[in-house]
Amino acid sequence: MCGIVAYVGDRTAYPILIKGLQRLEYRGYDSAGVALINDGLHVYKCKGKVKDLEEHAKGKSITGNIGMGHTRWATHGIPSDTNSHPHISMNGKFVVVHNGIIENYAHLKKGLISRGYTFQSETDTEVLANLIESIYVEQKVSAEIAVRSALTKVIGAYGLVISCSDEKDKLIAARKGSPLVIGVGENEYFLASDATPIVEYTDKVVYMDDEEVAVITKDSFTLTNIQNDTKEANIQNVTLSIDEIDKGHYEHFMLKEIYEQPLSIEDTFRGRVTMDHSKIFLGGLTEALPQLLSTKRIIIIACGTSWHAGMVGEYLFEEYARIPVEVEYASEFRYRNPVIQEGDVIIAISQSGETADTLAAIKMAKERGATIVGICNVAGSSIPRETHAGVYTHAGPEIGVASTKAFTSQVTVLSMMAFLLGKMKGSLAPDNYIHLIKELGKIPDKIKKVLESDEYIKKIAETYKDASNALYLGRGNLFPVALEGALKLKEISYIHAEGYPAAEMKHGPIALIDENMPVFVIATKDKSYDKIVSNIQEVKARNGKVIAIVTEGDQTIKKMADHVIEVPDCHEAVAPLLTVIPLQFISYHIAVMRGCNVDQPRNLAKSVTVE
Ligand code: M6R
Repeated sequence: MCGIVAYVGDRTAYPILIKGLQRLEYRGYDSAGVALINDGLHVYKCKGKVKDLEEHAKGKSITGNIGMGHTRWATHGIPSDTNSHPHISMNGKFVVVHNGIIENYAHLKKGLISRGYTFQSETDTEVLANLIESIYVEQKVSAEIAVRSALTKVIGAYGLVISCSDEKDKLIAARKGSPLVIGVGENEYFLASDATPIVEYTDKVVYMDDEEVAVITKDSFTLTNIQNDTKEANIQNVTLSIDEIDKGHYEHFMLKEIYEQPLSIEDTFRGRVTMDHSKIFLGGLTEALPQLLSTKRIIIIACGTSWHAGMVGEYLFEEYARIPVEVEYASEFRYRNPVIQEGDVIIAISQSGETADTLAAIKMAKERGATIVGICNVAGSSIPRETHAGVYTHAGPEIGVASTKAFTSQVTVLSMMAFLLGKMKGSLAPDNYIHLIKELGKIPDKIKKVLESDEYIKKIAETYKDASNALYLGRGNLFPVALEGALKLKEISYIHAEGYPAAEMKHGPIALIDENMPVFVIATKDKSYDKIVSNIQEVKARNGKVIAIVTEGDQTIKKMADHVIEVPDCHEAVAPLLTVIPLQFISYHIAVMRGCNVDQPRNLAKSVTVE
């Protein structure tokens, strides 16, 4: 949940760390800090964002060619200067940055206190720093051995970078459950929670595996497991460009990412759909195709926006491939005792590939014999490495905490999978299969048309920016779009919003409707159209304000709604991809007008690597 960056080489570490932290700020942004190792050790840290850290470090010594940085999302201890990372051990021998949670920290702390250790902060990380130091001092071993020994005593998750004041030329890194990437340069190395702080300097990376320890100097690095067996470093080329991780001319990453959707969907298609749009090929599924074709049930597990994409997937798999689907919150699934039958296929969806609950649910289902298929955006992240087969979404880095282009890419992959399985199982006629691929292929251009409504939608947002509540209604595969619209509004503008299947409104939420209640209705032309028109009338009869997302040219709803936002006509199977765009814009503009921090909403982080 936090972001880590570290450097060892000939360059000055500080600017590399600061830039890296800015790129990682999406992972947590309640405090930030750096440790610079030169003749001595300088630690600068404070509550707030990376820009506050820069202010704090102004005028101080920022030299040194080795260092580590951290941007925090608080777990143990409130956001404060003292709880910020890096943490120094009591006698100043070790400095540590940590992403994850040491679950048995209270027990370890008790033991350390009884041996005379005192603590400055409330964090689990300081406990680890002192544990390492106590082993180092008491057992008179090397820093590396002290770290290994401490890690055998720790229960929990960690991505760690550690430096010892007696071995100043070296960084020690370890990973279990929290991601860590090593960037391999010429006489220099980088460490980071993901590749974004690294790509500016090198395209060669090693994604560390769980329970691996790396010891890094400017000239070399070794990779071992906790027991000190040598591991082979798999150096890979990362294909991330700087343009992809910069805001460009956009005011916020979220806005940039909304506008990127025609391209990110194209990229999701690329190489997977033939030029004439007559065939889908998903190479990553090969291993799991026999199971997918014979399974009696698919269980989709995910969290947040990815869960909403999963609900669209449920509709698609049931409608076109005739496979029964259950969609589960990963956090609920993993803590129940779910019935997993022989032949069950689990589809795990995650933008980051690091969501702790999704990862744990995968591991549990795998142990019980299910075939796991991943749909992830971040290559090399933890989830794809746990799955039997999978499809990357290729949406490019998503930096805004509110997920936008990841959702549409996930839905694109799910659509391709459902159409392909339907065709292979014979439940989707060849003509319909080709027709659906073509409809999907037209989506990027149709989204471009919706993007032209940005200014018009902004005016609608102005009308509702002071609302305290909002309702979102949709039917069929547009119900998950209603949920997604409500989530977007909640998370970035802090307006309470709920999504409902439109027909459910009568069973309770209708009591909320009065002249102050904006009701966003997704009402494009499909088989439920007449029903949703009736739902709009029910809202209007109670003086609710209706903002309807409609098919271009719809005159019926225009006459009854307060505002209509048109989207191009499309097949109902692909309508979620178009209708979600106006809802993303609405939330974005309302949040900006309310002065909210769009890319880094309060209390949130981009990847939730804690349970
Ligand atoms: O990286 P993941 O897709 O696994 O993340 C799941 C959720 O944490 C994520 O979708 C979250 O709900 C977003 N902030 C929604 O915009």
